[in-house]
Amino acid sequence: MQAVNDLVSIGQPITYEKIPTHIYASSKDASKAVAIEIADLIRKKAAEGKPCILGLATGSSPKTVYAELVRMHREEGLSFKNVVSYNLDEYYPMEPDSIYSYHRFMKEQLFDHVDIPTTHYHLPGGTLPAQRIQEFCKAYEQEIEEAGGLDFQLLGIGGNGHIGFNEPGSLINSHTRLITLDHSTRAAAAAEFGGLHKVPRKAITMGVTTILNAKRVVLLAWGERKAAVIKGAVEGEVTEKNPASYLQTHGNATFIIDQHAAVELTRIKSPWAVDAIEWDDQMIKKAATFLSLLLKKPILKLTDKDYNDNGMSDLLASHGSSYDINIKVFNQLQHTITGWPGGKPNADDTNRPERKEPARKRVLIFSPHPDDDIISMGGTFQRLVDQGHDVHVAYQTSGNIAVADDEASRFMEFVVDYNNKFNIAGNDALALFEEAKSFLKNKDTETDSPAVRAVKGLIRRGEAKATARFVGVPDENVHFLDMPFYETGTIQKKPLGPEDVEVVANLIDQVKPHQIYAAGDFADPHGTHKVCWDAIEAALKKLKPKAYMNECWVWLYRGAWAEWEIHEIEMAVPMSPDQVLKKRYGIFKHQSQKDGVVFQGEDSREFWQRAEERNAATAKLYNDLGLADYQAMEAFVRWHF
Ligand code: F6R
Repeated sequence: MQAVNDLVSIGQPITYEKIPTHIYASSKDASKAVAIEIADLIRKKAAEGKPCILGLATGSSPKTVYAELVRMHREEGLSFKNVVSYNLDEYYPMEPDSIYSYHRFMKEQLFDHVDIPTTHYHLPGGTLPAQRIQEFCKAYEQEIEEAGGLDFQLLGIGGNGHIGFNEPGSLINSHTRLITLDHSTRAAAAAEFGGLHKVPRKAITMGVTTILNAKRVVLLAWGERKAAVIKGAVEGEVTEKNPASYLQTHGNATFIIDQHAAVELTRIKSPWAVDAIEWDDQMIKKAATFLSLLLKKPILKLTDKDYNDNGMSDLLASHGSSYDINIKVFNQLQHTITGWPGGKPNADDTNRPERKEPARKRVLIFSPHPDDDIISMGGTFQRLVDQGHDVHVAYQTSGNIAVADDEASRFMEFVVDYNNKFNIAGNDALALFEEAKSFLKNKDTETDSPAVRAVKGLIRRGEAKATARFVGVPDENVHFLDMPFYETGTIQKKPLGPEDVEVVANLIDQVKPHQIYAAGDFADPHGTHKVCWDAIEAALKKLKPKAYMNECWVWLYRGAWAEWEIHEIEMAVPMSPDQVLKKRYGIFKHQSQKDGVVFQGEDSREFWQRAEERNAATAKLYNDLGLADYQAMEAFVRWHF
């Protein structure tokens, strides 16, 4: 297992990182390393004839660690007989068998798949009477102490820095207790619960002291949405505003993070400040844009002194004066801007992001959910159609879980009324409607009946068709893939299978595109974009030997949740105010995703607002760097085999 920081040479100790932090290329690699450490500890303790006392966490972060431990149990005979575990927290109130409970989570992710005795695992009780909570919390801590203390504590981190449910404001000497959850914590959990109002307001959590008393602490963080809080915890002051920063005071705590959660760390964001580095074109662009934005000066106005004062003197030494560097980077940025995303016919394309030939390209846009195309690249989509390319769009999943129940009822009722109005015979529609109505009325699980799911899928399909028509794509160029991995009816999806890759590969093979656009945004909360991309990547690898693939360029856009960094962008497509408005109307076609959606996440803005603000922010960045002042811009990065 190799951490990224094993690969990047680090000359001096990184003094401003106050917690040892290992950055891995992927959360999967990182999780394996953590699972190995835990397994080694369990075996060592077993060899000594001692119990291994583990502090365990829930949430999305440790899932891959648990999956690896289960694999080790099955395939390598790792035994959990000597493991005694104490979980960090549980919602309050919460029934242990509820699908939202951490009890159930732990059983499903770990306990039910290994040989840990049922009397060996402990979680705070979500059903305790209020008056017994304090006594319980005291006893929980005492029990851990009597067991010899936690040998190993596994942690995730909240977007607000919480560890366990020690929300900002928790003191370093806090003990196990009942706590009121932050709004941001509840908003982050709202997706899982199917709405903010269903998320409990309280939880029982181990205290900060309880966590700090563990002999070893490992904190996991995946994805860009954790990047800012990780930087604060690792490089900032110890503060109750970011409880994970308390781990700076622990002698044996390590952060294990993936490269996406690391993007804000100084050694990644401005590596020249840390060590001598290799100044290739990409790094020079990164440095000059960083400096320009830091000093709030257009690129062309940066001086030798600016570079020298900010740790980039060796760049000047190896690449000449600031004047040369500025011009070079300015031109690089200028050449990313194009109003011709499919290439400009009859124009010199030496410095353009796309080829001029063939003038009319076959374009295949993959949209993980039915609205990602218009949200993330609506302006570019429109230009490709307007500029006469043969544009196809493929909706990878049905997106049915994101439709509200009342929306499904409304549409079913419409069908019944429609049939009545036009005397369409048969009571099938009414029977279906009545059945769905009674199902929804008594619904007590997160999984819809097949009929309701199908209706929800149709609602989103209709919206996607309306958008494609609005943009001007002929009906026969609109493809619905309904990838099987997604169709579980729950947030939890099946792993990607060969059947998923096949539907994607078949379509690529049918269209034989010159350009593919795909979502390279791996930060969406349920991981669907990542799985959709994995399917495309596998399909591309499979099709690579085909001759048409030599002419196929792949452009990645980012979804509603994040944007590329400025130095990464290889194509920026500007939009006028009118084009922005048109894109907004295109997004409005997705009525089921408007006015408060099922999966709002921590961001309370509507999707069209997020898209507009993000596209405006990208345009502003270009302008801040000293380039032209556009209303909005969509950004792309090219993917290479
Ligand atoms: C869970 C817990 C929380 C989570 C944190 C991150 O037991 O105590 O601190 O670790 O909210 O959650 P994920 O991993 O879902 O981002």
